[in-house]
Amino acid sequence: MPPDDLNITAAKLRQQLAAQLAAGDSLRSPQWRTAVEDVPRHEFLRQFYTENLGPGVTSWTPISSELVGAAEWLTIAYSDQTLVTQFDGRPLDWNDPNPVSNANPTSSSTLPSLVVRMLEDLDVHDDMTVLELGTGTGYSTALLCHRLGDKNVTSIETDRDVADRARIALASCGYYPRLLTEDGRHGYAGPSPYDRTIATYGVRSVPAAWVKQTRPGGLIVTTLRGWMRSLGLVRLTVDGDGRAEGPFIAADPSFMIARQQAAPANMGMIPAPDDGKTRETTLGREALSMPDSGFVAQVVMPNARHFTMRDDSGIESTYVLDAENDSFAVLTQQGDDTWTVRQGGPSALWDDLEEAISLWHAADSPPPTGFGVSVTPDDQRVWLGSPDGPSWTLPK
Ligand SMILES: C[S@@+](CC[C@H](N)C(=O)[O-])C[C@H]1O[C@@H](n2cnc3c(N)ncnc32)[C@H](O)[C@@H]1O
Repeated sequence: MPPDDLNITAAKLRQQLAAQLAAGDSLRSPQWRTAVEDVPRHEFLRQFYTENLGPGVTSWTPISSELVGAAEWLTIAYSDQTLVTQFDGRPLDWNDPNPVSNANPTSSSTLPSLVVRMLEDLDVHDDMTVLELGTGTGYSTALLCHRLGDKNVTSIETDRDVADRARIALASCGYYPRLLTEDGRHGYAGPSPYDRTIATYGVRSVPAAWVKQTRPGGLIVTTLRGWMRSLGLVRLTVDGDGRAEGPFIAADPSFMIARQQAAPANMGMIPAPDDGKTRETTLGREALSMPDSGFVAQVVMPNARHFTMRDDSGIESTYVLDAENDSFAVLTQQGDDTWTVRQGGPSALWDDLEEAISLWHAADSPPPTGFGVSVTPDDQRVWLGSPDGPSWTLPK
């Protein structure tokens, strides 16, 4: 496609994407709409992978102008989907691109509706300064530069290859924000305090540096997540003295976890058949996987993961294992609504979950947006209903 045609097609697709995002409730302000209409997402996505939908093992297909033609490449680059640009922290060979499966995406351009929803939630005003964690392709960084000016934007990416590509793409669009390549959990004190801090990867708890480097009254928008699932998006107001507080504002976004906080490869010790104490319970294993009780389970058992397997006699049990302290709970179904749980180790994982689930039921079982987070220099707590309500500690 000749360059002029390509630019005209891309501009039209941007208009369509902006209209689509505005029709949903993600894009709400004229300033961000102009940014979506102006910033060429395709410049940040010369090559990427799309996820193949369907049952079975998740797999991804490589996409570039050379592979699928310019029109198809542009159409996908301006679709509202997450486009993956790296797996397992390794560079991709674009001289011989192959479909990918059994891999873990480690960098991407997040789906635009989520990007702009988070930017809207960040509630920026002209001339504000922003610290962005997780530069990725640089697309969201470019939107910030468009809205606030390069000098007000600092963005940190932990992966050198990813950071280098983002720097080149940003420069090709005329954006020169302050870019750093390091572990974003330490933030960057240089031009702090920032008015706003936003993270595009999930963290197990809010890094103290982000709270310290955001001005009192400023906002932090980030996703919290654990090793079982994402907890959701929080918006915290910083209160000075290392404190911040605010509600979960969305349950669904699931960002990749900070590289340095990936779940340990070893899930923990599988208990021997006669380890632990057994009792009956009415709380079955679906409590771990249902959307809202699963949130409670992730909050209560931050270091746990679970899997289901059959023993030699064919009886199926779900093993919940705490990777940090070797506590365990093994659930086995006895009847339609009855289960036994065998627990051992320093924490009684299922007792703790049962207690939290009854508190949650007593509060009318709210969705994750009925919870919030308080951060102090000493600890971080997820609370139910209000900061004075029942609460659970997030991992350090
Ligand atoms: C979902 S992608 C970023 C999307 C990006 N904002 C965009 O629009 O393209 C998340 C990025 O966070 C980066 N990341 C993960 N852990 C990090 C850390 N500790 N510090 C900085 N970046 C990190 C990943 O390498 C990845 O590029």
